[in-house]
Amino acid sequence: MIQHGLKGVIAAETAISYINGEKGHLVYRGYAAKEIAIHHSFVEAAYLLWHGKLPSSEEANQLDQQLKKHRELPSYIETIIDQLPINMELMGVLRTVISAMGDASYQWKPTIDQAIKLTAIMPTVIAYWQRKRDGLEPIKPNQEYGHVENYLYMLTGEKPSDVHVKTLETYMVLTLEHGMNASTFSARVTASTESDMVSAITSAIGTMKGPLHGGAPSDVTIMLNEIGKKENAENWLRTKLEKGERIMGFGHRVYKTKDPRALALKEKALEVGKNDPWLALALYVEETAIRLLEEYKPGRKLYTNVEFFAAAVMRSINMDDELFTPTFTASRVVGWTAHVLEQAEHNVLFRPESQYIGKLPELQEI
Ligand code: ACO
Repeated sequence: MIQHGLKGVIAAETAISYINGEKGHLVYRGYAAKEIAIHHSFVEAAYLLWHGKLPSSEEANQLDQQLKKHRELPSYIETIIDQLPINMELMGVLRTVISAMGDASYQWKPTIDQAIKLTAIMPTVIAYWQRKRDGLEPIKPNQEYGHVENYLYMLTGEKPSDVHVKTLETYMVLTLEHGMNASTFSARVTASTESDMVSAITSAIGTMKGPLHGGAPSDVTIMLNEIGKKENAENWLRTKLEKGERIMGFGHRVYKTKDPRALALKEKALEVGKNDPWLALALYVEETAIRLLEEYKPGRKLYTNVEFFAAAVMRSINMDDELFTPTFTASRVVGWTAHVLEQAEHNVLFRPESQYIGKLPELQEI
């Protein structure tokens, strides 16, 4: 039987994360993801995903140092970025740059050191391009700052507030990893051919770019901007649903109840932006859309997904819309690389079949 979109198909065993879509559970290597986001840093969470255990403070410090060491863009990478057309989307820039990182040191089998290097470089690429695109001088990484703090610093040139760092860190930890989603699957398929880590992550970035996956949060902002005020919400949403269009930031392949990441981000958004009228509008749109989705798509169990409140959280820290999906990518690279490492440990080539529905000539048995 065909499973279009491989819905419900179990394609691999994993010890990296557990998702229960009916109950709204997300677990990273035995720990509730929300608890990790509240009590641990990005570096500690990345260590957990790569090594399978939480680090001691010395181990966390070592990883922090390794990430710092690999933050700087090699000069040939700067040259490549400088040659790219200025109208290129940031996700395209990331895909190109990560691909260009693939020198001879990235050979099969993939290693944690390779994962660290790719994770370290992502925020620098994003900030470099964003500032260049805005006609500003790129800012070199500051070795005094942690991974997330330095990302915000490289975007603005100012030391970010602790609240902004913690908000972004919460978002990044909550989006580090999410089972066999489309981009992770892409990474694992590429790795399963015994191709290298860089090729696998390049595949994943291309997959992440689409609006049905990682490209939705900026669409959420566009939607909320178009709606503009509470009074317009019902009509705007009804018009979309009447036309059979999708409401961005709602629905999920796995979650048939509230997405636990959306709930955690909603809490964070309420904490940092409680007086923001935009957030008040977002909450109203959430409530209205859930009601209308049940009316137009009864029984489909469509709730807000992680992307809806990602938009709110990003806004509360003054992150530009164009940075939403790249920032998601800068965190998800940890999950992708963990999966590539896991795939390499128990590799079986991915090779599903398709059912031919075209014409056939007369065929002889061989
Ligand atoms: N708005 C309106 N209707 C929807 C939505 C939505 N956001 N999501 C699903 N539906 C409807 C579909 O039209 C379909 O209706 P039908 O049964 O009448 O044909 C039904 O619900 C099931 O939809 P599928 O596409 O089969 O469900 P799937 O599990 O494949 O979809 C997806 C998941 C792609 C995320 C979908 O909900 C969607 O397009 N959402 C909007 C885009 C979005 O928010 N993407 C970010 C996802 S989170 C992430 O990737 C990090």
